[in-house]
Amino acid sequence: MNLEVLFTPADFGALKQRDLSQSVCVVFDILRATTSMTNALANGAAAIIPVSEIAQALEVKKQQPDVLLAGEREGLRIRAAQTGSIDFDLGNSPREFTADKVRGKTIVMTTTNGTRALNACVGAKQIFIASFLNLRALAQALHGTENLLLVCAGTFEEAAYEDTLGAGALADFLWNDFSVGHISDSSQMAREIYLSAERDFAQAIQFSKNARRLLANPDLHDDVPFCFQRDSLNFVAQMHDGIIRRTGKS
Ligand code: MLT
Repeated sequence: MNLEVLFTPADFGALKQRDLSQSVCVVFDILRATTSMTNALANGAAAIIPVSEIAQALEVKKQQPDVLLAGEREGLRIRAAQTGSIDFDLGNSPREFTADKVRGKTIVMTTTNGTRALNACVGAKQIFIASFLNLRALAQALHGTENLLLVCAGTFEEAAYEDTLGAGALADFLWNDFSVGHISDSSQMAREIYLSAERDFAQAIQFSKNARRLLANPDLHDDVPFCFQRDSLNFVAQMHDGIIRRTGKS
């Protein structure tokens, strides 16, 4: 049994060098990519294809014209000036992924860190996406996992407070499972940070640079409380062969 947390994008390169074939990876981009993906699937999206680069998203669109393009650069929806041709259909606000827009659709998504983190986990035995919206359901699905790697997407090249909170919350749910195994110091650190924050998330969020950036933008302000809703959804989402789909109950 082994529980480990990776805090920063500096770990993505190292992850690619590791043998992940016996590891289950869980990717956290609480603000906002993995929360947006979770909400899209809750609202009936058929699948999400995460890609690292805008050019890759455009290539998929060329092959499959029915897909929706979603994502951000600098937090904002990708526009024709960045693609050289078309505006993306959606940004990276979880509130944009409503049933009327996404039901039955495949969404190709590229974000600054979240989709990069997911692609760094390719080769793992299983890859899950995490959000506070369904963290309890995710913890239940992960009970009994032997090698669990919690991958925080971070912000640009830095650790992100909110991803650490998410990883700490999941570690706390599963703590007893790993009592006979190896718990890394990084897992202890994430859990301690979560436990010191859990009673007052609203107060703790001041430590998140991402949250401060979103809260300062009137259009994106409401994304922050949205992303910190706890356990409103009862399914988990997994990536197989580069495609994310939901599994389990609704
Ligand atoms: C990312 O993938 O880097 C984030 O989700 C950025 C954002 O909040 O848009």
